[in-house]
Amino acid sequence: MSNTTKRIVKIFDTTLRDGEQSPGCSMNIQEKLEVAKKLEKLGVDIIEAGFPASSPGDLESVKTIAGIIRDCTVAGLCRSLEKDIDAAREALAGAAHPRIHIFLATSPVHMEYKLKLSPEQVLAQAVAAVKYAGKFCKDIEFSAEDAFRSDPDFVCKVFGAVIAAGATTVNHPDTVGYAMPDEFGARIRYIKEHTPGMEKAALSVHCHNDLGLAVANSLAAIANGADQAECTVNGIGERAGNASLEEIVMGLRVRKDYLNADTRIDATQIYTASRLVTQVTGVKVQPNKAIVGDNAFAHEAGIHQHGVMANRETYEIMTPESIGIPKNRMVLGKHSGRHAFEERLNDMGYTVDGETLESIFAEFKILADKKKVVSDRDIEALVMGVSASAPETWKLEHWAINTGSALGATGIIKLLHKDGEARKQVSVGDGPVDAIFTAINEIVGKKPELELYEIGSITDGSASQGETMVKIAWEGRHWNGRGVSTDVLESSIKAYLSAINAMEWDLAAGISKSPLREPLKEA
Ligand code: KIV
Ligand code: ZN
Repeated sequence: MSNTTKRIVKIFDTTLRDGEQSPGCSMNIQEKLEVAKKLEKLGVDIIEAGFPASSPGDLESVKTIAGIIRDCTVAGLCRSLEKDIDAAREALAGAAHPRIHIFLATSPVHMEYKLKLSPEQVLAQAVAAVKYAGKFCKDIEFSAEDAFRSDPDFVCKVFGAVIAAGATTVNHPDTVGYAMPDEFGARIRYIKEHTPGMEKAALSVHCHNDLGLAVANSLAAIANGADQAECTVNGIGERAGNASLEEIVMGLRVRKDYLNADTRIDATQIYTASRLVTQVTGVKVQPNKAIVGDNAFAHEAGIHQHGVMANRETYEIMTPESIGIPKNRMVLGKHSGRHAFEERLNDMGYTVDGETLESIFAEFKILADKKKVVSDRDIEALVMGVSASAPETWKLEHWAINTGSALGATGIIKLLHKDGEARKQVSVGDGPVDAIFTAINEIVGKKPELELYEIGSITDGSASQGETMVKIAWEGRHWNGRGVSTDVLESSIKAYLSAINAMEWDLAAGISKSPLREPLKEA
């Protein structure tokens, strides 16, 4: 293996835009901000924070992220329309390094049926949009949507024209995940060699995973000269998802001898970034997912275990520690002090400030009293419960449920409103969860639809904490909630209340009236 300096490929993360717009992956502002901070720590070059013109909520979250993130470029997506560029300009005003990302489709099927525009009109609209954006921003990316199914010479012509108009990055997406790796690599080489003025701009790729080839195609593109790869944590995204960030990054790192390229990513942040995205979206990764799946470093077969014990390299091409899975942890329990606890948080990649640390530590002590051993998963749940949750409009005071096989269930709950008023409600239901959720709805005065209710355990064994995920919908909008407790009913109540609090927070912020995503027209 050679150790010479490698070409650095930029990582453009679109977890908060392409990832977040996929079903079941919506996040509230607090959650998006937590993810953005983590991406900054991970060392991504560009965070695509959202699509400001798609909804007031998206504009608000791009604005919030742009105002806080300092070490990454923050991008906002726009159609090739002045009103979208105006929205992105407003949202990115506070960014240290803003990027306006404009897209327009170039494939025959998109131009004819979706845009109803001729190729000449598409070319003119793309150039006009880039010129308009250039009045406000120096960093402009232009994406030729469905580029892979477009005429390559037309893509070169559009790219040449937008570069001349001021685009600093041109992106060649495989929007529908149709390409094969060799073919995609050859396409990228062709674009690189035939686009007029290509030396003045970076060439990016953005691959979808419909045939399971998004990462392979991205790596083939990098091997053929792509300067930037667009991807998402855990590969979340439209349909079968986007190229997974962790797989591209580790593919480059583990095989830099072959690919001769690397990224600036701090790979030791990968595992916690993946866990954070799982926690906030409630979308779990498959156990055998490369790099971050539960089994990615598990050796079950006796022959493999024997080999790994003799020498890890027999069956491991990278170590769990290289992606931030720590080894040989000291056990944390009720005698562990604040210092050990804080150190563990830091090892796990979390930096929490004074007040938040106080409340997580207090929760840790309560948990340690109930459980002999507090695992990393337990700690992660505590951090998530405090840091990525919406402020509490409603706080849980106490609850009780009476249930059995013969009679229905009755739930009683007392909630404290942030204005100080305490409210109590008794309700009956089909089961304990139905009874208590109904009581909460009565207090809150809304009956959101429960779209998902899922209970799992954080660790193995009957002493494990129960973890509940819920998704609720109200007037076309969606919120997630999660709750953790040694009592599964309490974890359900906490999860439901955290979703209700996220909803109340958004409604109070006045961004509720527009549905999160209207069907958007481009022409
Ligand atoms: O898949 C795609 O083509 C996109 C563009 C907007 C970049 O997401
Ligand atoms: Zn996409």
